[in-house]
Amino acid sequence: MDTSLKNVIVEKAKTSKIDQVDFNNLSFGSIVTDHMMVCDYKNGSWETPKVVPYQPITLDPSSKIFHYGQSVFEGMKAYKDTDNNVWLFRPLENQKRINISSKRLAIPEFPEEYFMEGLKTLLKLEQQWIPQTEGSSLYIRPFVFATGKGFHASPADEYKFIIACAPSGPYFSGKVKVLIEETYSRSANGGVGFAKAGGNYAGQFYPTQLAVAKGYNQVIWTDDNTHEYIEEAGAMNIFIRINDTLITSPISDRILDGITRKSLIELAKEEGINVEIRKIAVKEVVEASENGTLMEMFGAGTAAVISPITAFGYREKDYELPELENSYAALLRKRITDIQYNRAEDKFGWRYKL
Ligand code: PLP
Ligand code: COI
Repeated sequence: MDTSLKNVIVEKAKTSKIDQVDFNNLSFGSIVTDHMMVCDYKNGSWETPKVVPYQPITLDPSSKIFHYGQSVFEGMKAYKDTDNNVWLFRPLENQKRINISSKRLAIPEFPEEYFMEGLKTLLKLEQQWIPQTEGSSLYIRPFVFATGKGFHASPADEYKFIIACAPSGPYFSGKVKVLIEETYSRSANGGVGFAKAGGNYAGQFYPTQLAVAKGYNQVIWTDDNTHEYIEEAGAMNIFIRINDTLITSPISDRILDGITRKSLIELAKEEGINVEIRKIAVKEVVEASENGTLMEMFGAGTAAVISPITAFGYREKDYELPELENSYAALLRKRITDIQYNRAEDKFGWRYKL
């Protein structure tokens, strides 16, 4: 396949919705910008990407996305600094990961040049949609799904790759209280847990609803085999601090290889924090809470950034986390957001200027 890109076709919106947006009160992911990038896969190759006015799409009811769930997505953010420069954070990691996810779902890979050129063309058009307020950014949602028709349970022959954007504030609005889940599983060995497949999230909704009804915000998944070890949360990887050691579960084919997670591991090591990447038994966390050595738990992800967990529930009992003045969560949040918003040196080369 010839993946050399000539140009991204641009069709500008005639009007803008931007005046209706209160940039000081942004929720997460509920307002979309004026344009989107669209690229179709037909006859065995990707067509030229287009940036067009944001609009609904029409699909045949037999499109395979509706029946067999062939769909994967990414989550990334664009940040604006005080000089109005726009920055992305490790965008090629997202580009690579969507193709890792696609491969597992038998979706054709999307060429790097199409992804980066389509994304940059879109963002250049949407620059004034990128919030400058602290804690806000432009959430970017690349996704690809099967548009090919027919009820035969086999991969589609046609796909659509879209990038849409939403100016966004924090993912969680209040305290984050999690429930350690032992009945349901998010993923299994040999499954699709490592992929950002839409179905992974659909499968979490019902157990999460049950947890929400009990007063929790999120579920912490345990391994499907024994339910003895902590894996990750529904939309973020998990870090646990016992005494002064920061622990996170190893990546596996059941856990998403989070870009925030791997960046925080680097930053924590640079701060001289002892980081352990190993299995974490729920029993160990409960015991640490009971003997006062459990200092912190936090989630890490693009949408969640670093979200401190204030309490966890396990077997009908709640365990509170202490409120620390100098938490690792606050330190690492400052380190990573300072890089993302171009407030600090970027010695790892993670920032990408638009
Ligand atoms: N785990 C899950 C299930 C997620 O949906 C996300 C969000 O993308 C993460 C972890 C964190 O990944 P990242 O830091 O790459 O956003
Ligand atoms: C992200 O953090 O970008 C994600 O994709 C998580 C999503 C469930 C909001």
